[in-house]
Amino acid sequence: MSKDTGKFITLEGGDGSGKSTQSRELAEFIKASGREVLLTREPGGAAGADEIRKLLLTGDPDRWDGAEETLLFYTARLNHLRLTVKPALAKGIWVISDRFADSTMAYQGYGNRLGPENVQKIHDVTVGSFEPDLTCILDLDVYEGLKRTHGRSHDEDRFERMDIEFHERMRKGFQAIAKENSHRCVLLDASGEPGVIQRELRRTVQDRLMS
Ligand code: TYD
Repeated sequence: MSKDTGKFITLEGGDGSGKSTQSRELAEFIKASGREVLLTREPGGAAGADEIRKLLLTGDPDRWDGAEETLLFYTARLNHLRLTVKPALAKGIWVISDRFADSTMAYQGYGNRLGPENVQKIHDVTVGSFEPDLTCILDLDVYEGLKRTHGRSHDEDRFERMDIEFHERMRKGFQAIAKENSHRCVLLDASGEPGVIQRELRRTVQDRLMS
């Protein structure tokens, strides 16, 4: 990317790992450094993608199989990239996305057993070589994460209702992704206090993207 484009940061992790709060606070930090920031999320972040979000996150866990939902996630992702993420980066705006392609790799590739190679093939023919400048993966025990989500009342809980083995495979998937993509990924322990995790995130962004 040229010097004048914004940076693309993604936050990843299991359900209940605290990504949404951490993303919001990270956006404040980047804003305070004098940069313009856009906070967005997947699935969603553009009008068409938001409609697909509803299809994906509501209803029975077996409503879609791994291949079907992967294609839906990628349709939403292309819409989000084309209409929201890429135009903002081109204007020099920094973009933080609460979830991106590593979620499909972890949830569908590992969790739903579509297989990492198959997800990678779909990624390569759709998104291609475009990738985040930095990905922070919040790693948390899956029981702890699901316990945190149980207090929330919402109808977009299709993945939270998947069995515990699904969530264990997904967590291992994120750990594998972090190992294989160390040039852009950092795995952070999300079991501690939110303030401590935020400090760690800010330090990572500063070291990797601001110095
Ligand atoms: P959301 O309500 O945004 O949950 P969270 O706060 O945990 O991010 O729902 C997103 C759900 O969709 C979440 O359970 C993970 C799942 N998901 C996938 O399975 N694959 C994907 O590619 C993405 C982006 C999300």
